[in-house]
Amino acid sequence: MSATEASAPGKVILCGEHAVVYGYPAIALPLAQVRATARVEDGDGETTIYLRDLERRYPLAGAAADDPFALATRLVLAEAGLPATPPLAITIASNIPIAGGLGSGAATATALIRALARHLGRPDLADAAAVARLAFAVEQVHHGTPSGVDNTVVAYERPVYFVRGEPENRIEPFRVAAPITLLVADSGVSSPTRATVADVRRQWLADPARFDGLFAGCGRAVEGARAALEAGDRERLGRLMTENHALLREMTVSSATLDRLVTAALGAGALGAKLSGGGRGGNMLALVDGGRVGPVRDALRAAGARAVLTTTVG
Ligand code: PMV
Repeated sequence: MSATEASAPGKVILCGEHAVVYGYPAIALPLAQVRATARVEDGDGETTIYLRDLERRYPLAGAAADDPFALATRLVLAEAGLPATPPLAITIASNIPIAGGLGSGAATATALIRALARHLGRPDLADAAAVARLAFAVEQVHHGTPSGVDNTVVAYERPVYFVRGEPENRIEPFRVAAPITLLVADSGVSSPTRATVADVRRQWLADPARFDGLFAGCGRAVEGARAALEAGDRERLGRLMTENHALLREMTVSSATLDRLVTAALGAGALGAKLSGGGRGGNMLALVDGGRVGPVRDALRAAGARAVLTTTVG
């Protein structure tokens, strides 16, 4: 029996979250240590989806209307133009923490779309652009108004400069001149991105001038951060990350816990620190020079971080 496997990484948003929903740029980075995998095999009888981590198996035909895996499966089958659904056994697994802003939803959808497209003999639907487009349709069911940055960085698996646009997004994978080391600390608070995105929208509608100003500030931080990454200027990148955090605080998407982690990281010698993703929980990032990894990690743990990942990009 033939089987096809594919995987996709987690991700972090380096800068520009929230503002990216309003057309400003963001930079996102793949997080290779944590991954989602999907396996597609020819089955017998009906098509089934098995979520290995949850030990849950269900038939495609009986899936809830908003089930992301059923949705992804149906999208690929429709794009592949198959007259009838072939019986398939689909298995999904992931070690990306859920609801922490590390892209678990985008990565599981991406791995599934890629494995299924290849299994059905449609490698054209498995390339980064096609997978990002299909995964976006899945994200829309979960996020409400996603910008598209998550599914893009996960599908390209490269640092990406992203601007949401109509009809086309601007997607620029780019090279980092000198490797950077980031600590990714889990606040231990789960916070659905959908809620913070909706709350920022409410505040923007109530005071558009103020929020447009905050978004534009984030956009400038992102432009500077890209230039700093392309020039290998870590000090400048760190300053811009911390500035971006201050703007996110003004948008009320930080929290006492996230602020405490940011302060702890900076106090222990991080070059910059900020929340990452939807905010009010989830993860924060600290940019560190090699020698400071240990002390910054210890400071984050002492300040209450549940788990701290170290990742090098570039
Ligand atoms: O999925 P998260 O929590 O990393 O957040 C996504 C970033 C937002 O800008 C807050 C939302 C979006 O769709 O871009």
